[in-house]
Amino acid sequence: MTDSDVRSLYLNQIRRDLTRYGMDQLVPVGWPLGMRASVGWLVWLPFLKKRNLMLVRKRPFDQHARDFGMDWPVDAETMIGMQRLVSLQNCVETVLADDIPGDLVECGVWRGGASILMRAVLAAYEDETRCVWLADSFEGVPRPDAANYKADKLPWYAMGLHRAAPVLAVSEAEVRANFERYGLLDDQVRFLPGWFKDTLPNAPIDRISVLRLDGDLYESTIQALDALYPRLSPGGFCIIDDYNLQGCRQAVADYRAKHEISAEISKIDQCGVLWRK
Ligand SMILES: C[S@@+](CC[C@H](N)C(=O)[O-])C[C@H]1O[C@@H](n2cnc3c(N)ncnc32)[C@H](O)[C@@H]1O
Repeated sequence: MTDSDVRSLYLNQIRRDLTRYGMDQLVPVGWPLGMRASVGWLVWLPFLKKRNLMLVRKRPFDQHARDFGMDWPVDAETMIGMQRLVSLQNCVETVLADDIPGDLVECGVWRGGASILMRAVLAAYEDETRCVWLADSFEGVPRPDAANYKADKLPWYAMGLHRAAPVLAVSEAEVRANFERYGLLDDQVRFLPGWFKDTLPNAPIDRISVLRLDGDLYESTIQALDALYPRLSPGGFCIIDDYNLQGCRQAVADYRAKHEISAEISKIDQCGVLWRK
């Protein structure tokens, strides 16, 4: 078996573990399936979480859903599914092979799974020069700031992602513990806790080779692009996870128009896209 075979086996196993591939889905009661706001966000999840309880419904493994990040397995470290993980691995491997300078950054990490994969790729290729940066409030998505970001204005009947804190707020300690479980928590993993508007403009990151944006809102996407895209090296990848969401797509369109970015946008799956600078 060659080194390349061993690397590929390791990274394949990491992706399967991060997505709980092949395992039945346990759907917590009150889980916002299909992003539908539910009274469960407000009542059931906080009530059960406080008592350290989880009420789940069991569903058989659905390969299509797990491939495309459509089922958010209750205990998996990522919600983005196998296709977007494969693509992310490919981006990191490409910047290593092409010697594109810069660190790897994820804005919006949730339980940390996508960032864990990026760290695993560095480990597999014995790269000790680059860091993986994790930017997150660790408190969930901010309340929409419709005065400054019209695209995030909610219709009267919508509850908004900020109310999904029982699902989306994962503490920094939990994310660190997830890295630890994979044996990947070390000095090459760096945390930027806080709201993007406060942490990203002065983040101590010099150059970036992979920039992964997964903050759902217009506000979160535009703030990350404004602060970090200028630091993305030529040949680096800009990955947008939430291109299926109207606000995020609008932020990408506005930023690209303002900066006359014409690099072709490639589709990863039904949600994610990327382009190369
Ligand atoms: C959809 S989840 C990220 C999923 C994750 N990348 C994965 O692999 O499963 C969105 C994350 O973005 C964070 N977030 C969204 N907007 C933010 C902002 N403006 N500042 C800080 N964190 C933000 C939330 O706390 C949440 O953890």
